[in-house]
Amino acid sequence: MDGPRIVVTPPGPKSLKIWEEEKKYITPGLSVDMRVMRRGPVVFERGEGSLLWDVDGNCYIDFAGGVLTNSTGNCHPKVVQKFTVQVKKLWHVHDNPTPERLKLLKILLNKTPKGIDTFEFYSGGSETVEAAMKAATSYTHKYEFISFYRGFHGKTLGTRTICPGLIGKGFGPVMNAVRVPCAYCYRCFLGLKYPGCQLHCADFIKEAVHFNASDNVAAMVFEPVIGAGGVIIPPKGFWNKVVEFCRQNNILLIADEILAGVGRTGKFFSFEHFGIEPDLITFGKGMGSGYPVMVLAGRKEIMTALPFGQPGGASTSFGGNALATAAALATLETIDEENMLDNACKIGEVMGKRLNEMKDRYPFIGDVRGLGALWALEFVKDRQTKEPAPRVGESVAREAFNHGLRTIHGERVLRLSPPLNTPIGLIEKGLDILDAALGKLH
Ligand SMILES: Cc1ncc(COP(=O)(O)O)c(C=O)c1O
Repeated sequence: MDGPRIVVTPPGPKSLKIWEEEKKYITPGLSVDMRVMRRGPVVFERGEGSLLWDVDGNCYIDFAGGVLTNSTGNCHPKVVQKFTVQVKKLWHVHDNPTPERLKLLKILLNKTPKGIDTFEFYSGGSETVEAAMKAATSYTHKYEFISFYRGFHGKTLGTRTICPGLIGKGFGPVMNAVRVPCAYCYRCFLGLKYPGCQLHCADFIKEAVHFNASDNVAAMVFEPVIGAGGVIIPPKGFWNKVVEFCRQNNILLIADEILAGVGRTGKFFSFEHFGIEPDLITFGKGMGSGYPVMVLAGRKEIMTALPFGQPGGASTSFGGNALATAAALATLETIDEENMLDNACKIGEVMGKRLNEMKDRYPFIGDVRGLGALWALEFVKDRQTKEPAPRVGESVAREAFNHGLRTIHGERVLRLSPPLNTPIGLIEKGLDILDAALGKLH
């Protein structure tokens, strides 16, 4: 397979022509990063593995992995073959059982921790998190949630309640939720230093909950490893303390693994790194190789509590339809057959080594964080003051893209999340492009 190749600085003329017309009709609220793509977005027309081609003939390495969705890359032959069988057979009826869905349920039962034995399928992450919140309120008859600064759980009105900071501002008031600092050691919200802090942030959560929420908290919604908020990995011991507090206070644990689940961090679920046993799990970004299919998994007594467990209480129009089921089955089987979690761990070793070397050479890299195939660089104007440098991130993302590397840029952080099966040679090539982009800006 060839590497990246740029024949015309993106966006090329063909991309621009399509965009000039499309932008008259499409909302400007898209996720296309116009700071990075100042003249307009690129129009992609083809993908193969971890490579993407645009309509102008440029080829890019996709270190965004779609948007962390393309766990097996684009158009993996085995996934295409299995999916195509279903495409020719049956697309959609509604919630009726199918042999394939039963097969998928049995696979999921094997992947999830003991005690998590009931599932419902959805199409998008936000609706899956909302479903988890509804299941939790049905079971506990309590209506507040704990969530973390910099956590991201969706853009619907319900999920905005628990993460208004990241992208949900300006849409009016939110329902009650106790939002607490996450363990972001690089920029501790409490101004402390690990390990001397003795995880004061975890104790602070107890205070915040007792002070703000009395005894009306149904659940804590958390990303064991924060993804969109900047790949933030809590230090050892943090989750133990927080989980213990939740257990003592009958607060359910909703692990939002929409982004970090399905092998992204080198384990099937990111909570496995910390020994957490959640009551409900949401996951699925990487479960359909780009086809929308998400899961809410939980303990039976929670998933069957009324009204969530009443007929129609948990279901949607498209959730778990025949195509979604086929995409999930094909993806999960292929991930296992090709040991993609092992490859994600190898990606992690290479990324960790090379990104830290880059940090040694470029003073505007303040922090390097990651696990498996999920990494971030945080840019600063000054290493001592840690003043954020969002424009640097923007420029690095643009420079890298112009040389054939697609990344995800947000605020001061550049995120790298290639498909789990990206060959190590291609990871090295992508990192070469990133290194050159950093060098140019340096
Ligand atoms: C952890 C997490 N939860 C929920 C969501 C929302 O998913 P969706 O955009 O499919 O609604 C995201 C999206 O990135 C996410 O990262």
